[in-house]
This record gives sequence, structure tokens and C-alpha cells, in this order.
Amino acid sequence: MKRFMDHEELARDRRFKRANTRNQLLQSLPDDVDTIVRVFEQIAPRMRERVAGTALEAVFDDLGPGYPFLTASGGTQSRGERSNLQLRMQMHGIFVGELQALEAAGRTLWDFPDSPWEFKMNMARQCWDEARHVQIFEKLIDHAGGEVGEFPESTFLFETSCHDDPVLRVTGVNRCLEGLACDVFRSLIEYGKEVDDDILAQAADFVLADELTHVRFGSDWVKTFTKDDPERARRAKDFQRETDRAFAFGGRQIARTERLEAGFTEDELDELEGMELGGPKRETLVRAAEVLRDRHRARQRGEDVPPLAAADAS
Ligand SMILES: [Fe+2]
Ligand SMILES: [Fe+2]
Repeated sequence: MKRFMDHEELARDRRFKRANTRNQLLQSLPDDVDTIVRVFEQIAPRMRERVAGTALEAVFDDLGPGYPFLTASGGTQSRGERSNLQLRMQMHGIFVGELQALEAAGRTLWDFPDSPWEFKMNMARQCWDEARHVQIFEKLIDHAGGEVGEFPESTFLFETSCHDDPVLRVTGVNRCLEGLACDVFRSLIEYGKEVDDDILAQAADFVLADELTHVRFGSDWVKTFTKDDPERARRAKDFQRETDRAFAFGGRQIARTERLEAGFTEDELDELEGMELGGPKRETLVRAAEVLRDRHRARQRGEDVPPLAAADAS
């Protein structure tokens, strides 16, 4: 069997639709409403194509290409209210995330045959947990009234797990992504309690307990693998910073208690909280999305809406 598989090679049945969204696009945009509107109107036809045949098609047709910032489908809707559509999107996003976490842990077990036995056992244990999480979120999709495959799947989580150095592999998957999962599940538990959804709150609580263990695997193995190798330890630290930044888009709440328990230090958490985020501010994106929506609706009414002129290069 092949080692170091690419994200394009992940097997899915015909219920699934792949979205190749990269948040790198957002990170490269300036904090400027007009530029964002212009860029999104340029890529609108491709976005429309990507959501065709999924539940997002109707959302796109209603709101236009800025819909991700009006529905917060990008996984940044960690606090406050959720519409049913948002909840279904989030359950679906976590479901495919769990699927990719299972695939990532399975690949890590397979890709590094010379790694210590305990490392392989930890990765095997993680596969077992992630398989359970996939089942839990499949049921939570159902609980929210959704359906597997109704939203496109983005594989950026798995892409982060493709590194061929085991240290960077567990840094990316176990410390960054599983750490992020802790934040997401902590806020999901709070949301479940807020809206008296005990099933959601309890299910997320069970999953969070496992994710803690996975982060701890990352913390422990990065330490073990980089012991007596400061250069490799530094590379792991740099990679972690880079990955955390890529996924911290739009701001989030750090689950400090859980992350401390899983081997993060206070210093690391302070750094994470104070992290300078790339890309435009959330308010700018929402404002741009409103402009995009109004222009989209005007076009639907048959009005002539000329494209925005490029800003002067000064
Ligand atoms: Fe998981
Ligand atoms: Fe996990």
C-alpha cells in the first residue's frame, strides 16, 4: 500500500462532494471592502459551481458569493446563536473533520513503520476514537435534521496532515488541529447547554475527552522525537505557529483548561491568544458580504450592476 497519500486521493462514496476551498485566499486579502467584493465577484461562478447539488446552492442563490460570512460556515461560528442551517453546516463540517482525523491518524500509523511501538499504539487508539466520533457526528447531523453529503467537504484538515516528518505530522494533526477541536467542542458544549440540547452537549463532552488525549499524544511525541535535537524542536515550533495562524482565521476562544491538561504550557496559550491573525477583520468581511448580497439581488432583479473598478495602485 502506498505511503504518504495526497489529499486528492481520499476515497469517498457518491454522497460526498469535494470543495477545494483554501483559507489562504482570505488570508491574502486586504482589510478592504471593495477589494473583497471585487475578488469574490470574480470567483463567484466557480463558487456557484462548487455548491451545485448541495444544500448550499439555495443559500448561494439567496445571498450571493459572500454567503460564507453571512452564515459563518467557515467554522468561526463558535459563539452565540446558530440558525438550523448553521448548526447543520457545523455538524457536517465536524463530521468530515472527524473522518479526516481518522484517515490522518491511520496514515500516520502506516507512513512511519520505524517509529516506536508505543507511538503506533497511540495512533491506533486515536483511529479507534476518531471512528467513534465519525459515528457520533453522523448521528448529530441526523439530530439537527441534516444529511451526510448535503454540504461540500473541504479537505484542508487532511492537507495539514500530509507532512513526511513524523514530528511535523503530530505537530500539525495532534497539537494544532486536535487543539483547535478542543476549542470548538468546548464552545459546542456551552452552546448545547444554552439551548437545552442535552444530546448535543453530552455528545460533544464525550468527544472532547478523547480529543484531549490526542493533543496529549502530540505534546508527548513532539517532546520525545525532538529530545536532544534543538533544531528539529525549533522546526516543530515554527510549523505549529504557521499552522495555528492558518486556522485561527476570524478569531476564536481558546479552551485553556483543556489545552493545559493536554500538555500546552501557559506561554504557548498566551501566544495563541495574542496571535496576530492574517487577512481582513471579521467586520470587514461581513460588510463586504452585505454589499455582495445587495449587488447579487439587484442582478437577480435584472438591474445593471457594473463590476467595481480596481483601486488605484498608490
Ligand atoms: Fe475526533
Ligand atoms: Fe481527535
